[in-house]
Amino acid sequence: MAELVHVSSHPLVRDKVTRLRDGTTKPKEFRELVADLARLLFVEASADLALRPITVTTPLALSLGHELAERVGLFPILRAGLGMANAILELVPSAHVWHLGLYRDDVSLEPVEYYNKLPDSVDLDVAIVLDPMLATGGSATVVVEILKKRRISRIKFIGLIAAPEGVERMRREFPDVPLYLAALDSHLNEIGYIVPGLGDAGDRQFAT
Ligand code: PRP
Ligand code: URA
Repeated sequence: MAELVHVSSHPLVRDKVTRLRDGTTKPKEFRELVADLARLLFVEASADLALRPITVTTPLALSLGHELAERVGLFPILRAGLGMANAILELVPSAHVWHLGLYRDDVSLEPVEYYNKLPDSVDLDVAIVLDPMLATGGSATVVVEILKKRRISRIKFIGLIAAPEGVERMRREFPDVPLYLAALDSHLNEIGYIVPGLGDAGDRQFAT
């Protein structure tokens, strides 16, 4: 699974994910950490975006530079992916955002889709799926299937904490989708939570 699973070793990511896990971190700081981590991981995930040359005029002279040449689509999985999308939008204001609503059934752990307004055809160059938690991988695989049905071929996943079970499922079902993660944890517990993880990412962001 190695080369398409990027677990960041950046010191800022390691510092922030540690504070994110801490059960005493309150929702305000939790949301700020989610946003910071999303931006840091997006920088790594976007390193291959194509540029086109442009010229700007500084107060002193013409300067040859570049602008993003690719249309970026962000696909936050509700609820917990919301904070990640808002943070990345600040870096790439031109990105298009499509929200996808899924929740995990408490007993079966299967994802249940409740919101999807994606048109049949989506015109973009790269799709980035955002969800802080990759646990069983059920939610992420449903979203990648939704995107593949729309013939989107370049897809990446950014998550904050993953379990080996979710990573293996994504590698098996979608070996072409690279994963950008802040941490890869030990295992899932008997109720499908990532251990050590951080608890419920949606509840901790929104205090519900
Ligand atoms: C969490 C998380 C992922 C999903 C991961 O969402 O944000 O979407 O669980 O689990 P999986 O890999 O086993 O599918 P949840 O279903 O709790 O919904 P929420 O974001 O609304 O809290
Ligand atoms: N969803 C979460 O929010 N946390 C987990 O550990 C697993 C799924």
